[in-house]
Amino acid sequence: MENTEAKQRIAELSDEIRRHNHNYYVLSKPEIGDFEFDMLLSELIRLETEHPEFIEPGSPTQHVGGGITKEFRQVQHKYPMLSLGNTYSEEEIRDFEERIHKLIGDEVEYVCELKFDGVAIGLTYRHGTLVQAVTRGDGVQGDDVTTNIKTIRSIPLKLHGTGFPDEFEIRGEIILPHASFEKINLQREADGDEPFANPRNAASGSIKMQDSAEVAKRHLDGFFYHLLGNDLPFRTHYESLVAAKSWGFKISDFAVRCKTAEDIFKYLETWDAARYDLPFDIDGVVIKVNDIRQQEMLGFTAKSPRWAISYKFKAEQAATRLISVDFQVGRTGAITPVANLQPVQLAGTVVKRASLHNADVIALLDVRVGDMVYVEKGGEIIPKIVGVDLEKRPADALSFSFASTCPECGTALVRTEGEAAWYCPNETSCPPQIKGKLEHFISRKAMNIDSLGEGKIGMLFDNGLVHHCADLYDLTFDRMIGLEKIYESTNDKREKKISFREKTVTNILNGIEASKSVGFDRVLFALGIRFVGETVAKKLASHFITVDKLMAAGIDELTEVEEIGEKIAQSLLAWFSEPVNLELISRLRSAGIRFVMEESQVPLLSNKFTGMTFVVSGVFGNFSRAELKKTIEAHGGKNVGSVSAKTSYLLAGENMGPEKRKKAEKLGVPIISESDFAVMIREA
Ligand code: IVH
Repeated sequence: MENTEAKQRIAELSDEIRRHNHNYYVLSKPEIGDFEFDMLLSELIRLETEHPEFIEPGSPTQHVGGGITKEFRQVQHKYPMLSLGNTYSEEEIRDFEERIHKLIGDEVEYVCELKFDGVAIGLTYRHGTLVQAVTRGDGVQGDDVTTNIKTIRSIPLKLHGTGFPDEFEIRGEIILPHASFEKINLQREADGDEPFANPRNAASGSIKMQDSAEVAKRHLDGFFYHLLGNDLPFRTHYESLVAAKSWGFKISDFAVRCKTAEDIFKYLETWDAARYDLPFDIDGVVIKVNDIRQQEMLGFTAKSPRWAISYKFKAEQAATRLISVDFQVGRTGAITPVANLQPVQLAGTVVKRASLHNADVIALLDVRVGDMVYVEKGGEIIPKIVGVDLEKRPADALSFSFASTCPECGTALVRTEGEAAWYCPNETSCPPQIKGKLEHFISRKAMNIDSLGEGKIGMLFDNGLVHHCADLYDLTFDRMIGLEKIYESTNDKREKKISFREKTVTNILNGIEASKSVGFDRVLFALGIRFVGETVAKKLASHFITVDKLMAAGIDELTEVEEIGEKIAQSLLAWFSEPVNLELISRLRSAGIRFVMEESQVPLLSNKFTGMTFVVSGVFGNFSRAELKKTIEAHGGKNVGSVSAKTSYLLAGENMGPEKRKKAEKLGVPIISESDFAVMIREA
């Protein structure tokens, strides 16, 4: 094909595919079938491969994914990503409405919207093309997940129509529809992995995957609800939603304008009931002042806008009969009592099992086998028992006693004074505890061996190949190839089989090899010493530099380290005095695991400002300029002398040069005061 012809065909196909994506994923009104669509897409992929010079920015082929993100870059938000004040009752909504009325005086119109239960995201568009997608993070900075977000087909990579600003941000929620959620969990079950507790967790896990082609397979979706930018041309929030819809964004059809508190209550009531008919989760309603000038008059508190509030639905309850009680052992050895229930419909699913919390709650509720109990669904994978209907207690209801031995290994259970849970103390050979330790060892923030998941670890353990973390480094191709596991599918109750194939085994071995370059601080965290979390591990590693020095340290030297108290120190001393642990370290060391801190790993107070640059200018009340700059560096940030488009913040004191302020305003660089800065540091 001639060059000019190819260029034109690429443009035509891109437009056509974009239109079909919009029809299918945003409007749910497809005009063509899957086969026809796939033909168009393969033609475009082929032409782009032959003529990469003509690939358009925002080409729909980017929805397919393929890009790998090893480490998500931290990006600061241009506008901080705030949260909303929560309310749970009509009374609180009335207070909100009255407060606003008092402050504004005039008549106020509201927009009621669904509160999507997903993961917040901010998308930046420049000249109509999606250029960046950032998660909320801590509200000041989040993760750059652009490559993954581009795989979501309802998200326009290039905007439709005209009239959009040269640059703006749109905020919304990435969600996982129920249908995709169920499919993913079935697959996880087949792979032997723990299913996701709810669609929100699944969405959040999905957007942080390294391989965007895998993200594409998750079929995420997103709804958008807030536009941000300089001089946006809207008088009301509602108008901005209508405009965003015309540019191709998926905007909910259920946003409604309301004039009175009564209108708002009607909306709450309708959706409290109708939420179970939606194909995705919502967890409440958001109420916003519609007029943007009024929004500006109301402004923000430190954490949230005064012009919006969220109303959270109460968890739905159901009543059913308690048939029997089992005891389960968790990864930490904690025992959870689990109720077997007469199946009951709750929030769209059938519930058969529910948590009975711990021994104290069982005693407090005085729950007995045969009782009518109330079940509630929270964010956890398993619902909870929250009460007993004593009036319906049958005469033969039976009280039961808490387990005294571990149901997995038979060891007598123990309970530390002041703690609610009973534990199985057999840390070294109780199967769920061993698997738990291995899973922690390979997890993302520890050794990050993502080619191994819970399912594969379980398979290696069940086949006797790994017992200790160090055993992972003795695995070979020949030992793993062909391992099999039979399981019963909860879907169709049929027996299914999974087996380790060549690609799986090679990936596992590559992942294990790569873990040898993980820094000492993460290795220390991976060991799973009680009370040694990520931050403590970092502090210890950067203080002692080598494991030998850490092991030689006594209680005084340990508690000298910032944030290390008596409790953590005792836990470390106890751990390092166990011969099995010393052997583990020695084996890991021979395998080539790092037990020495790299010189380049300068100890930082936090990573709050990593990747950010500051300009500090003027005279400050409480600190000198030098102190402020030192603090910025201690939290990972950089100081520069002049404002540019790359500057993250202008920290402005008294008598600052007017030029710096002007430039910052022009470039949209946020200008913060000494006290704003103090708040940021406190959060770090
Ligand atoms: S507006 C400054 N609208 O809920 C106001 N938020 O708990 C920005 N959310 O941070 C938020 N649905 O992640 C808004 N229709 C909606 C929403 C919504 C879900 C999330 C969002 C927000 C959080 C607040």
